[in-house]
Amino acid sequence: MIRTISLSSLVLVLGLGSAFLVHAGTTDDAMLQLETIMADEGKRHASYAAGHERIRFCGYCHGEDGNSKRDYIPNLAAQHPQYLFEQFEKFGDGRRDDYVMSKLAKALSQQERIDIAVYYSQQTANPRPDGDPALAAAGEPLYERHCSSCHGANAQGVRDMPRLAGQPAQYLELALKRFKEMDPQQNNSPMIGVARMLSDNDIGAVATYLQGR
Ligand code: HEC
Ligand code: HEC
Repeated sequence: MIRTISLSSLVLVLGLGSAFLVHAGTTDDAMLQLETIMADEGKRHASYAAGHERIRFCGYCHGEDGNSKRDYIPNLAAQHPQYLFEQFEKFGDGRRDDYVMSKLAKALSQQERIDIAVYYSQQTANPRPDGDPALAAAGEPLYERHCSSCHGANAQGVRDMPRLAGQPAQYLELALKRFKEMDPQQNNSPMIGVARMLSDNDIGAVATYLQGR
């Protein structure tokens, strides 16, 4: 089973045995570097190619093209590179916690995390099958009222506001419930306040709506 792959084999597969290094540079440097890469076609191609070399293992779960293989796993395709990079920081420093992702985030160098973020941001998110049409219809006005101002009219996201369109409903529900349960004293995400306003029914509706976008 994918979830039980041992971490030592994981590190071997990635060829990262020596990569438990101190991350060079700061997040600000990385964000600047990402912006420079995204704005320059030659640099973007080089970074994309380097990222492609590094995502073989990620592909088992997230898909080589960034369309995830399981409904509890997020798509990375067409996600914003700043957002993707920032999530590695969060898994790495404990603000987010997932057995595999937390180990991986610490195993990747800053350059690898940048290149992987560039690679996945350039992929196309494939449509997922629509869920229950009545639930999706109930989710649409909720999305427009509570979410579109940040995540965009088409749920395409911008910079550090993630794209939500086409994410599997199961993952969206998990993510929203996680925000709902977070301690605001220890986390400063705007999503904590947003998720608190939603009932479990609302969460199901908005997640179903977004999966079909
Ligand atoms: C064993 C399956 C598995 C593998 C392998 C894996 N991931 Fe993940 N990844 C997950 C799961 C599950 C989550 C969601 C965790 C959560 O809800 O916090 C996730 C979350 C993420 C996120 C956050 C996405 C978001 O929408 O917030 C990023 C970025 C990510 N993974 C990148 C990668 C990269 C890059 C690799 C390879 C180096 C990788 N993952 C390998 C299962 C995996
Ligand atoms: C004030 C701006 C804002 C509003 C309004 C907002 N979000 Fe977010 N959302 C964010 C930011 C910023 C993040 C990135 C996570 C973080 O920083 O904690 C995020 C992250 C998320 C994620 C995690 C995505 C992933 O890939 O893991 C989900 C799911 C989400 N939002 C859904 C919603 C839904 C549904 C609504 C409306 C009910 C909503 N958001 C309203 C700003 C917002």
